[in-house]
Amino acid sequence: MNYLITGANGQLGEEWCRYLNEIDAEFTSRSSSELDITDRALVFETADKYRPDVIINCAAYTNVDQAETELEKAFLINRDGVKNLVECCEEKEIKLVHYSTDYVFSGSGKDSKTYPNGYPENAKTDPVNVYGKSKRAGEEVVEASTIHWLLIRVSWLCGPKGSNFVNTMLRIGSGQGTVRVVEDQYGSPAYTFDVVEKTNELLRSDKSGIFHITSSGKINWADFADEIFRQSGMDVKVERISSAEFPSKTVRPVFSLLSTKKIEDAGLKILGWKEGLGELIRKRNKRL
Ligand SMILES: NC(=O)c1ccc[n+]([C@@H]2O[C@H](COP(=O)([O-])OP(=O)(O)OC[C@H]3O[C@@H](n4cnc5c(N)ncnc54)[C@H](OP(=O)(O)O)[C@@H]3O)[C@@H](O)[C@H]2O)c1
Repeated sequence: MNYLITGANGQLGEEWCRYLNEIDAEFTSRSSSELDITDRALVFETADKYRPDVIINCAAYTNVDQAETELEKAFLINRDGVKNLVECCEEKEIKLVHYSTDYVFSGSGKDSKTYPNGYPENAKTDPVNVYGKSKRAGEEVVEASTIHWLLIRVSWLCGPKGSNFVNTMLRIGSGQGTVRVVEDQYGSPAYTFDVVEKTNELLRSDKSGIFHITSSGKINWADFADEIFRQSGMDVKVERISSAEFPSKTVRPVFSLLSTKKIEDAGLKILGWKEGLGELIRKRNKRL
């Protein structure tokens, strides 16, 4: 299989490139400066040049706070850019893997009671912020298409490199004895290396449709921070605070848990969140 990776410098894009190198697969990677997915002609030209069997779309507008004031840009990339990829895949009979987020759900306290084991893939979407709405709009474009598509939703994505919660905690924790972390938002981390391997398994077994990929367990950010410092051997105290004490202009879901039942039913083994964190820290130290 010949892969084309978009958004190749992002945390998931980088992980895909590392993995495909490791398994010696045929692939082409394109960063945002080499392939802007909002440039329709360039998308088609790139597909003609490299003739991929599958496009792995890791390109996205991901700045949740900034999206509130950059609505047009968020929709341009997360909806219109995806439309370019879909149309290109339609014309050239290419498969598409597209990534999305738990933020397409409302993440309300009510939903946490309805879905104590996490949102299933077919739960009603109802995003509460601009980023979530733009990502849902991209999902709708994929779902309405006639191509062979895989839509993978992940939550709390963390990889060895890039901007994510683990790297932020390790950075701010190294300078101080106490960090303040919210304890009233729940979810489970998805690890880039696990997401990539599982996505490839789904691709190889010719699966299509929506799948949620994350690790097992239901934790809050403060629990996660505690474990990050414990496993890193850092003597940092986590002061547990409420979201109200951490004011933000952006409404965020309080419940981000995604059900993993469908991928388990597909025969994939779910990674424990602590075990995944240990692996992430080892990979991070090796790649630093
Ligand atoms: N991070 C999370 O916690 C999280 C959670 C749930 C779901 N997700 C989803 O998972 C996927 C991967 O996220 P990530 O964390 O890897 O994101 P990321 O690190 O922000 O990477 C996104 C990449 O997309 C590139 N990009 C932006 N606009 C583009 C355009 N017009 N054309 C081509 N490339 C463009 C960015 O390049 P520049 O840096 O040059 O702009 C960046 O390299 C996304 O679909 C995201 O919505 C992420």
